[in-house]
Amino acid sequence: MTFHSLVLQRRPIKPSSLTIFLVFFSSLLFTSPSFQQNVPLGCYEYPDPTNRYHKIPVNCPIIESPTMGDDFFQLQENSDNNMFVIHFVCGAKNPTLCEKVKDTFEIAGSIISSTLTLNTPINVNASFIDFCKTLGKCGNSDLVTLGGATPTRMIPLQDDDGLVRLYPQSLVKQFRFPKHPQFSTFDITATFNSAGGDYWFQGDPIIGPDQQDFLYVVLHELVHGLGFASSWQDYINDTPEALTPDISVISSANSSTLIFNGFFESAFDKYMIDIPTGRRVSAITDQLNEFAGSGTKFSNIQEFYMRFKSSKQYQLALGMMNSSVTPLSLGFLPTGGTKSSDCIILETSLNPYQRGCSVSHVSLQTYNSTCDFLMKYLADRGKDLNTLVASRGNYKSPIGPELLLFFNTLGYASPGYPNPYRPNVIITTNKFNPNVSKNVDPGLQKASTVSYATVTVTITANSAPTKIPEYTTMLLFIFFSSLLFSGVIT
Ligand SMILES: *[C@@H]1O[C@H](CO)[C@@H](O)[C@H](O)[C@H]1NC(C)=O
Ligand SMILES: *[C@@H]1O[C@H](CO)[C@@H](O)[C@H](O)[C@H]1NC(C)=O
Ligand SMILES: *[C@@H]1O[C@H](CO)[C@@H](O)[C@H](O)[C@H]1NC(C)=O
Ligand SMILES: *[C@@H]1O[C@H](CO)[C@@H](O)[C@H](O)[C@H]1NC(C)=O
Ligand SMILES: *[C@@H]1O[C@H](CO)[C@@H](O)[C@H](O)[C@H]1NC(C)=O
Ligand SMILES: [Zn+2]
Repeated sequence: MTFHSLVLQRRPIKPSSLTIFLVFFSSLLFTSPSFQQNVPLGCYEYPDPTNRYHKIPVNCPIIESPTMGDDFFQLQENSDNNMFVIHFVCGAKNPTLCEKVKDTFEIAGSIISSTLTLNTPINVNASFIDFCKTLGKCGNSDLVTLGGATPTRMIPLQDDDGLVRLYPQSLVKQFRFPKHPQFSTFDITATFNSAGGDYWFQGDPIIGPDQQDFLYVVLHELVHGLGFASSWQDYINDTPEALTPDISVISSANSSTLIFNGFFESAFDKYMIDIPTGRRVSAITDQLNEFAGSGTKFSNIQEFYMRFKSSKQYQLALGMMNSSVTPLSLGFLPTGGTKSSDCIILETSLNPYQRGCSVSHVSLQTYNSTCDFLMKYLADRGKDLNTLVASRGNYKSPIGPELLLFFNTLGYASPGYPNPYRPNVIITTNKFNPNVSKNVDPGLQKASTVSYATVTVTITANSAPTKIPEYTTMLLFIFFSSLLFSGVIT
């Protein structure tokens, strides 16, 4: 039996690594507390899909879109086309296996392309490699990583409720802004472990009980890569205790001080609701940002951590941790929703908090046996995706109705929802306006027949989960990157 190890290896941003990447920041980002028109915030790149904490600030000046030619529009009209362009590197020796993996990416791309109205191709840097030999991520006898995916670049855009949020590049492209922050070559980076498990592929003989349908894994990860990811994480403590959105800091021009820009949410977080109260989670981000104005200087990251931890705002971060380990606490309010019970319920039943599993998935208890099972953190082994979809009734796609609603809400168009919300390229403010993102009626979810026991996960201090009852396979997601966990520990 195998289980993933990265949750253990994973640590929050270390001062050393932070200091290193900060160097890149010099003189890129806004360095004054006020936001200036046409001066873009920096973008982030995530070079390692198995490590979301590895982020690199990059300059992304606003540029004109190239004129789109006839070919472009032909592509757009053919809605059955696979809009995912897969750049595939296969590290496996078996060419048949490589072919199957590549085909699976194509199938996953076609499924998403036939569900959403994508107007601009999405470039995926996909690899299938031996994590142990190539990346030195070998896990141990209990743990193995199956893979991960992340938006290659996150781009700051101005939302209508006053906050600046980080958008996944694949979505920013679909907005087709005449001018936009510069794009990276790839939209999604995805990597899967060729030594990670016993995969099953379309066309293989009937799936074995321990086999994992590779398509399930790829689809789940691509959805993360398209933006199904909250930024609420513990970026400060080795053992998670307090959650905040992404922390933006830059080093001053002479690198001797650290400039704090604020806490930044991802696009996903715009729609997060505290279910019991119906309040917008973004209001908490707004309060967190009262900790220090944009442009506040700190002598180093340790000082920042120390001062934040002793601030009254830190209590809010502790409260968010509380919500993330209390069942039925956090939801994603889809477009058209007016009350807490309209929310897609997020995974807040794991206690203690699990990096990569908590919050950025749909609730296992609520959705395990529904058409919207794809984004729960546990994958189903021993069943292929088609069988799973068929067993959920008449809905014919693994992209369930709630997941489609999520895409529409985030800004992806679909045939039934042609004109989704679009944020703005020009940054003018970073102050939350509760009149635009209003609180909603509180109340618990309709699915009250389901019992929401807190799932207890025992972990040894700062290391491996030693006991995860009942689970056969875990899909573990680390912020924008996702990690696939395979196996059970009994
Ligand atoms: C593709 O992603 C891998 C990480 O999974 C990275 O090492 C590689 O450089 C990327 N390839 C390109 C062409 O950017
Ligand atoms: C570095 O810049 C800060 C202001 O950004 C200034 O206070 C400090 O004196 C400078 N240090 C050096 C060594 O120039
Ligand atoms: C944690 O959340 C629960 C349920 O929402 C609440 O009753 C409790 O007071 C919270 N505890 C703290 C310390 O905030
Ligand atoms: C989820 O549903 C599957 C059937 O598809 C079932 O085998 C499994 O036990 C369920 N898991 C949980 C945790 O409810
Ligand atoms: C929100 O609406 C109230 C009442 O109409 C108004 O007083 C307040 O200024 C508005 N706030 C913002 C940020 O627009
Ligand atoms: Zn996941």
